[in-house]
Amino acid sequence: MSKTFAIGGKITVNRLGFGAMQITGPGVWGPPRDRGEALRVLKRLPELGVNFIDTADSYGPDVSEQLIREALRPYDGLLIATKAGFTRGGPHAWHVNCRPEHLISSTKKSLKQLGVEQIGLWQLHRIDGRVPRAEQFGAVKQLLDEGLIVHAGLSEVSVADIKAASQVFPVATVQNAYNMADRDSDDVVDYCQETGIGFIPYYPLGGGGELARAGGKLATLAKAKGATSGQIALAWLLKRSPVMLPIPGTSKVAHLEENMGAAEITLSNGEFASLGGR
Ligand SMILES: NC(=O)c1ccc[n+]([C@@H]2O[C@H](COP(=O)([O-])OP(=O)(O)OC[C@H]3O[C@@H](n4cnc5c(N)ncnc54)[C@H](OP(=O)(O)O)[C@@H]3O)[C@@H](O)[C@H]2O)c1
Repeated sequence: MSKTFAIGGKITVNRLGFGAMQITGPGVWGPPRDRGEALRVLKRLPELGVNFIDTADSYGPDVSEQLIREALRPYDGLLIATKAGFTRGGPHAWHVNCRPEHLISSTKKSLKQLGVEQIGLWQLHRIDGRVPRAEQFGAVKQLLDEGLIVHAGLSEVSVADIKAASQVFPVATVQNAYNMADRDSDDVVDYCQETGIGFIPYYPLGGGGELARAGGKLATLAKAKGATSGQIALAWLLKRSPVMLPIPGTSKVAHLEENMGAAEITLSNGEFASLGGR
């Protein structure tokens, strides 16, 4: 199975990426507890072959994008994917706002914060139930048409949502919660594979790193393969579909190095099936 995937058929990335939500403060609010380590995590990414980084204007807010710029600009060969659609009120407080003017002003702010002229992949963080879909999807089309973004994706959506959005703009990626233990989006993964849409599973390690600490079958297989439970959980995702682009998040270099080791692990069909593969 290929180690790379071409987003929108055009921007080729290594399938194992990085999620930059954990480099902010507690509750995804404010600066990280250890700013130096957060910058070291980001600087280590290209050295480990990671060229796909997921962030959002709402992580911090702003903090994640600003640290990415400080550590990685001018982004040689890197795809920095961001999102808009949430405002923040404090730690753990998230409010959906996908009014067109908010989406457009947030994207312009992301361009400035990241220090780029175009965003290679921009994602609608949520579909807002209080705003007509035509307006939200129309704003995404406007961002594409005006060249502020190159490709557009969705997050936390159903197959029906993807089909509806695809009537208005080409959907390059979908980002939903998904991991070995949370298979609610299996139908969405299958649809993305059929249609060549990249599927970005968030919470690839369970959200709080639960799968990295897991015992049971996962730990037994990990031991047999000389790997860690987290590496096997990520290898399972990579085997699940060639359009799967996991973005494990961490605030620590040691965890990052461990997680990226998953790209070198191949599960047999039997091993995959023993962990609930299909
Ligand atoms: N679209 C959305 O609505 C949405 C929602 C949530 C997240 N996301 C994106 O998805 C990315 C991934 O999700 P996530 O970061 O919440 O969850 P995750 O990757 O499943 O897990 C992250 C957690 O696992 C811990 N961890 C990571 N590697 C570890 C290791 N090797 N050993 C032990 N613990 C480890 C991290 O703590 P340490 O910092 O201590 O390593 C952190 O608490 C985010 O960074 C963000 O970019 C998107």
